[in-house]
Order: sequence, then structure tokens, then C-alpha cells
Amino acid sequence: MLALLRSQLDRLTLVHRGKVRDSYELDGHLLIVASDRVSAFDVVMKNGIPDKGRILTQMSNFWFSRLSEVCPNHLVDTDDDKIKLRISDWDESLAGRCVIVQKAHPLPIECVARGYIMGSLYLDYQNGDTHGLDLPPGLQEGDILPEPVFTPATKAEVGHDINLSESDAKDLVGAEVYDLARSWTLEIYQRAAEHSLTKGLILADTKFEFGLTDDGLILIDEVLTPDSSRYWEADKWSPGSSPQSVDKQFVRDYLKSIGWDKSPPGPMLPDRVIETTRNKYIECYERITGQRFE
Ligand SMILES: Nc1ncnc2c1ncn2[C@@H]1O[C@H](COP(=O)(O)OP(=O)(O)O)[C@@H](O)[C@H]1O
Ligand SMILES: [Mg+2]
Repeated sequence: MLALLRSQLDRLTLVHRGKVRDSYELDGHLLIVASDRVSAFDVVMKNGIPDKGRILTQMSNFWFSRLSEVCPNHLVDTDDDKIKLRISDWDESLAGRCVIVQKAHPLPIECVARGYIMGSLYLDYQNGDTHGLDLPPGLQEGDILPEPVFTPATKAEVGHDINLSESDAKDLVGAEVYDLARSWTLEIYQRAAEHSLTKGLILADTKFEFGLTDDGLILIDEVLTPDSSRYWEADKWSPGSSPQSVDKQFVRDYLKSIGWDKSPPGPMLPDRVIETTRNKYIECYERITGQRFE
């Protein structure tokens, strides 16, 4: 099984090669190709996870379609049979991992919703910084929050994202856009968390991106994937212990175990880490969508 580490569509203009996805200009739209690259702590690893780009693309498409009654999104075309007609360099390594989308101006903030306290919010909370949120004392790592919270973060070009106060986030995007992004983020999170729970998974937190178009604000990028979200086994969850997850945590835990200092380049992941992570992503996809991954 081969991982697609980078797409190479020489007849199209590459607009952006991100940590995971490559975007090309396509007649006024964007063609987004999800590669099998894996990033952790904002650094791309040397090897990829076969099929990861396909899993992320199919899972995002599932959620975009389910959530289209909440807010508009960027999808224009997700059907390979139609997409391949527009790409003269098409080959089967691209199957299942391309979408054609409406171009937007991404907001300079990441819109994070959290139902549980973990990661950077827990670290800040321990240091007494609750970002103006009304959080009760004594929460343990992984605890459920009294209600889901919106914690926007900077979108750092380089380095790690930093949590923003409400007023700093409003300064960046304007109060009106902020309010809409916040209410959509919480509404989508709520619906997605409910659906996930019926599949035995806790959606602990997730990150969305929104972008501005001539028609207003739309949901862009990827949604509710194991790259952008924390999905935990509901029946094994207990606060204060490390949750069993079907997301990228396995890769992060491995990187911590080898003492990697988080500076690029990322290390080579051993086969067993690749295989376990791949299986976790497939399991997450299959449980959430109810479809078999082929
Ligand atoms: N509809 C869109 N219009 C413009 N940019 C988009 C759209 N959807 C996603 N993007 C951008 O494309 C990139 C996706 O690739 P990714 O590998 O996630 O990059 P990054 O390393 O910046 O996270 C992101 O920078 C995201 O903001
Ligand atoms: Mg990204």
C-alpha cells in the first residue's frame, strides 16, 4: 500500500501546499487534493498514512452534507467521475481524495468548539487562564464541560495556534462575523456530538474554518475529521485518565514517547504506528458514517 505524499498536477497552477492538502486553481474554483501526509504539532512527518486523504475527504463530505441545513459550505463537486473530466493529469492515485470548492477568504481565526476540557484549554486552565469562560473549579483533564464552549485561536502561519480572547478575536474578524462564526460553530458541534454519541464516540472538541465570499460567510476546509477533532471511545471515557481515541492522538503519543523535540523535519513513523493510525482512522470513518471504507 502506497501513501500519496504529494500530488503533482503540472497542468494546473498550485495555489497552496498545506501540511496535508494541495490546492490548485481550477477555472475560478479551487481543486483540493487531500494527500496522505500526516502532521503533528504542526510538523509534517517523513512518511504518510496510506488512504488517509481519502478517509478525511469522505468523512468531511459526509458531514458537509449532514450539516448543510445549519450553514452553507464550500463544496461545488465531490464526484470523481465529474472531477476527472476537468483534470487532464488525472490518475487513479487521486480517486476519492479530490473536491472542487468555492474559493473563499479564510478568516484569520480557527473556530474551535469544545465539550470537554483537554489539550491547550486544560493547560491554560491549570495556569488560571480560562479565556473569559465561566468554568467551574476542580475540572480534571478530559472532564465534560457544563456546556460546550467556543474558543477561537489564531491561525499562525508559523508555529502553534494561540487561544484568543473574545475581544481579540472580534478585532480580527469584526463583531458581526465573529457572532455568526461562533453560533454556527456551536450549533454544528452540538449536532455532530449528538450523532457521534449514537455511534459510541465522544466528540471532545473540533476545529472549523470559515471563509468570506461575495455571498457571505461559508464553512470551508475539512470538517469533523480525526485530524481536526478529538474522538473518544464513549464507553471507556473517564476524566483524569488518558482517553482511548480514534484520532491523531496515537501519533502524538508515539512522538512524545521517542522524545522528539517538535522541530522539523518530523521523524519517520514506524510501520506499526502507521498501521494502527490507519486502522483508527478507518474505524472512525466507518462508525461515524455507517459506511464501509473501500
Ligand atoms: N474554500 C476555500 N477557499 C480558500 N482556502 C481554503 C478553502 N478551503 C480550505 N482552504 C485552505 O486550504 C488549506 C488546506 O490545506 P491544509 O493542508 O489543511 O493547510 P494548512 O497547513 O494551512 O492547515 C488551508 O490553509 C485552508 O485554510
Ligand atoms: Mg489545515
